Amino acid sequence: MTTLVIGGAGYIGSHVVRLLLTKGEKVVVVDSLSTGIEERTAGAELVELDVTAPDASEKLAFQLRAAGADSVIHFAAHKQVGESVEKPEMYWHDNIGGLANVLAACASAEVRDVVFSSSAAVYGVPDVDLVTEELTPQPINPYGATKYVGEWMLADAERAHGLRTVALRYFNVAGAGWPELADTAVMNLVPIVLDRLEQGKDPVVFGDDYDTPDGTCIRDYVHVLDLAEAHVAALDYLRGEERPHRVFNVGTGTGSSVLEVLDAIGRARGVELTPEIGPRRAGDPARLVCSATRIEEALGWTGTHDLDDIVRSAVEARRGAGRP
Ligand code: WQD
Repeated sequence: MTTLVIGGAGYIGSHVVRLLLTKGEKVVVVDSLSTGIEERTAGAELVELDVTAPDASEKLAFQLRAAGADSVIHFAAHKQVGESVEKPEMYWHDNIGGLANVLAACASAEVRDVVFSSSAAVYGVPDVDLVTEELTPQPINPYGATKYVGEWMLADAERAHGLRTVALRYFNVAGAGWPELADTAVMNLVPIVLDRLEQGKDPVVFGDDYDTPDGTCIRDYVHVLDLAEAHVAALDYLRGEERPHRVFNVGTGTGSSVLEVLDAIGRARGVELTPEIGPRRAGDPARLVCSATRIEEALGWTGTHDLDDIVRSAVEARRGAGRP
């Protein structure tokens, strides 16, 4: 089987590429290399192409035919919530326009199976203990909105062109499956804290007065390697006969607070952290933890790594890169 992985030079995409290669699948990576890193795609063919460009659909269709691809995994998108609030047009243009080009190319090249990176950001600020896929999404920022609309586009493409699609709603992804594929961006809690510690600074907790047991926000942290396995399971699902669902949460169903994450980082580094307590960050839900029942039942997938595994892998990847 041959899969075209769009955005395969990114943090999550490259983990999926590596996993598919280890399973003996043929992989062609398409990436603009605007944030992707070429070295992460070792072992796969790399085509440099920006899926948001005006002629991208024809070029992608050409690549799909040339590769003899039978499936596509589409990662390439902007993913910073704050940036999406400041530059909404860029998010709508690139995330939605890019996806439109990908779906048109699949239809034209008669590639049937598509896995799309969606996000827990579609849910906004849900007031429930465990978020199920039945909950109606109410995104509160343009990033989450583009992911939700992307899911509608998949449904439309199924009806119009007979595609088969799955959207994976990622919860809080962290860790590294291979040191060289680690998250180099400093945008989320674990890399932000590791970066601050490296600079000799204390971590900052964004609010400790939430209605949670220790007052800090609770999230569902999933190991990037488990997330990569979820993509492989999604491809298998699309290739099978039975396919009752189109949307899946990808998380563990277990919540960890910011202070629990900091404790885990302290354990992994063998030091006690002394966090500063800062003000709340706008738009943060107190708790965002998924129900992972649907993906377990339909795809047979469960997260196998706990918070300590996740944090340890991130710390070790930085050490492997010669950082403290
Ligand atoms: C986690 C928790 C912060 C930094 C984001 C996107 C979401 C999805 C995953 C892509 C929060 C707290 C953070 C710090 C802190 N992305 N924090 N100090 O916001 O849960 O989710 O990434 O699809 O759409 O919104 O992740 O890692 O930014 O924050 O206290 O220095 O850590 O307030 O509670 P978030 P995050």
